[in-house]
Amino acid sequence: MLELERPQHPDITDEMWNQVDGIIDEHRGQPGCIIAVLRKSQNVVGYLPAPLMDYISLGLNLPRSDVFGVASFYSLFALEPKGRHVIKVCTGTACYVKGIREVISRISNKYDMPEGCTSEDRCFSLESVRCLGACGLAPVMVIGEDVHGAVKADNVLEILEQYK
Ligand code: FES
Repeated sequence: MLELERPQHPDITDEMWNQVDGIIDEHRGQPGCIIAVLRKSQNVVGYLPAPLMDYISLGLNLPRSDVFGVASFYSLFALEPKGRHVIKVCTGTACYVKGIREVISRISNKYDMPEGCTSEDRCFSLESVRCLGACGLAPVMVIGEDVHGAVKADNVLEILEQYK
């Protein structure tokens, strides 16, 4: 096991660092292991803060640019903390025509949260996605596992209140 100096980070507990050490040990020396290590580490911490990626690159003995390059290339990796609830708003054609833009701007204004961002209290993250395959319910928003159809700008904030 490699002894690395752990950076201080408010979102990463000692127990999380222990788990990340285990992940690095499991994969060190395996070609093409960066994605697996980042994915597992993100599952532990919730996202990939820069000091964590520095630690991983030292642990795997790989260039920092390789690790950061992979993390920023794949959309499955989050470089910023995610909210407890991820709101996916559909910007496909049917939802667009039925007014999803007004829904999005109502959410963004209320929580000061542009698309792709997280609210300051980390309650919500807002992501726009392509057609969710439920066009008959347009406009559609998904929060966690819950699908909300026929969402209106006038009732979307009420829906979000249920998740706070
Ligand atoms: S366009 Fe939104 S669900 Fe198809």
